[in-house]
Amino acid sequence: MRTVEKIVFIFNLNTILREITPINSSYENRTKVRRVCGRVSRPFHRRSLALAKALQLTSFTRRRVAAVVRFGMMPGDSNMTSIVQRIARQALLTYRNPPRVGEEAGKSFLENHGKLKSLMTEVRAADLKLVPRRADDSPPLPFHHGAPPVTYMHICETDHFSMGVFLLKSGASIPLHDHPGMHGMLKVMYGKVRISCFDRLERPAGSPQAAPPLPTAQTDALRCSVLRSTGEYTEESGPCVLSPDRDNLHQIDAVDGPTAFMDILAPPYDPDEGRDCHYYKVLTETEVKNTEQKEKQLWLVEISQPPDFWCGGEPYPGPEVCL
Ligand SMILES: [Fe+2]
Repeated sequence: MRTVEKIVFIFNLNTILREITPINSSYENRTKVRRVCGRVSRPFHRRSLALAKALQLTSFTRRRVAAVVRFGMMPGDSNMTSIVQRIARQALLTYRNPPRVGEEAGKSFLENHGKLKSLMTEVRAADLKLVPRRADDSPPLPFHHGAPPVTYMHICETDHFSMGVFLLKSGASIPLHDHPGMHGMLKVMYGKVRISCFDRLERPAGSPQAAPPLPTAQTDALRCSVLRSTGEYTEESGPCVLSPDRDNLHQIDAVDGPTAFMDILAPPYDPDEGRDCHYYKVLTETEVKNTEQKEKQLWLVEISQPPDFWCGGEPYPGPEVCL
């Protein structure tokens, strides 16, 4: 093998392995590749198989490495780079410079946002190596033994966005909450969710809406709002989108069994930057009966995190993301 070929081969495998091996083993594997490459002299594809075997990669990964070396596919090819990786890259492009609150979105943002929506429409549970859970995989409500009703798989996070998967057990809900100054995109991976989207309204001067009669402490926590939509989403649905001034508050309920959705938030929650998560409760009809509210306009009251909701963590089994 000529020296140039050897360098190209090593470089390619180096990049390939970074794409397809777990994050905690990629450096070690890349180091092994460099070592093994120096002393094996068989044809490219046979050499790659030997290397992959030496690295104790799975048979699936070995076949991918062999295919790359034999047929010249590069990780940049769409059929080589995982869709999760492409979504992360597109999210970075989209949210690196998002429109500010109240600012109209520019052409570049809209184009990138459209591409991100297309990728999110395409992604499926199998792409994340998620196995859909069944209703009998988890105990029915109320949740016992300290098991969280909702868990989160972290995929990646930068200053510009965070990406992960929320998994809801049968009958679980993520209570009504906000995303201050943030954009977001949510795509169901399996099961079905009901999403109710709200927005806070700035009460115009002279508004006929009177605050409902509540103790002063609670009146301070009241938020005039509007219910924008309520809809059900499955894996066949497109993503549900939120922005700083549209559909920024939502409640998410699992419908007819366990469910999971991929979630992108941009920028990520950060209380130090004024982006803390607040929870709300919709005041009932009885509580607002004295107001002259218009249809779909209602009062929310800020509450502390409901005691029956908490979120645990679990490992993300899907392809690594490199940014
Ligand atoms: Fe949310």
